[in-house]
Amino acid sequence: MTPLDYEFLRKLLRARSGLDLSPDKQYLVESRLLPLARRVGLAGISELVAKIKAGSEPLTVEAVEAMTTNETFFFRDKLPFDHLRETILPALLPARASRRSLRIWCAASSTGQEPYSIAMCLKEFGSALAGWRIEILATDLSQGVLEKSKAGIFSQFEVQRGLPIQMLVKYFTQTGDLWQLNADVRAMVQHRQLNLLQDFSHLGMFDLIFCRNVLIYFDQDTKAGIFGRLAKMLEADGVLALGAAESVVGISDAFKPYPEKRGLYRPNTDRAARAGVAAPQASKVVASVTR
Ligand SMILES: C[S@@+](CC[C@H](N)C(=O)[O-])C[C@H]1O[C@@H](n2cnc3c(N)ncnc32)[C@H](O)[C@@H]1O
Repeated sequence: MTPLDYEFLRKLLRARSGLDLSPDKQYLVESRLLPLARRVGLAGISELVAKIKAGSEPLTVEAVEAMTTNETFFFRDKLPFDHLRETILPALLPARASRRSLRIWCAASSTGQEPYSIAMCLKEFGSALAGWRIEILATDLSQGVLEKSKAGIFSQFEVQRGLPIQMLVKYFTQTGDLWQLNADVRAMVQHRQLNLLQDFSHLGMFDLIFCRNVLIYFDQDTKAGIFGRLAKMLEADGVLALGAAESVVGISDAFKPYPEKRGLYRPNTDRAARAGVAAPQASKVVASVTR
């Protein structure tokens, strides 16, 4: 790969997915894109770049997807799910008792372990949520990971990462070496392809947004823009959960830290008031989703 090829790919990836690669990451690009180039019968990265420059959209999409990091596992970092069970839901459920509905968005859901962890947490509330309308929307840039997520089928290795054995037994069915999430849990999660760089205001308002381990790959301005747009999608008493290495502090004042709960944030309604913007209100907008 020539330095010009690398510069082209850096710009392309930043524009298409937000991925902010430093100038010294040629090895990473080579290790991810060379297998793609070979698979489609090209000699190397320069030939791949030439095809992309010539306007091959399918190859561009494949290259962008090959560069995304899809690492995920059930109940990743544990703490956000403890907070969900012990703090967030106990506060939200009484507040939503009259409308008996909850809308949750998992904004970079990868192969599904995160939205399904949320779904299993909700299942554990049992009859307290009987008759409630629960929407968990799982979105990701990559159609490939969404397809795997929709199937809800996981390897032995995947179910051994983070998933308590009691939950495996309770919510999965084994077929050979694989485990499939039971249909009732799968049905709680709706899937939709969505790029966080693009407008997402049409999704409507949410009570809870998980946007974890994706913004870490973006530059500060991109993060700030996304935080500003996410804040408009959260109810005033809603909660944003970020990844363990992510924070809004020093990047955006659209959110303020949730008291004493690391990684959780609330929309900053003071800021909205100062800017003359009404605090987010409950909305009846419901996302049109594909399963
Ligand atoms: C490291 S995974 C995180 C998965 C999960 N949130 C977790 O914390 O375990 C990051 C995901 O972000 C997705 N992603 C990357 N850029 C994106 C973008 N611009 N819009 C939406 N999703 C994106 C990737 O496809 C990948 O599945």
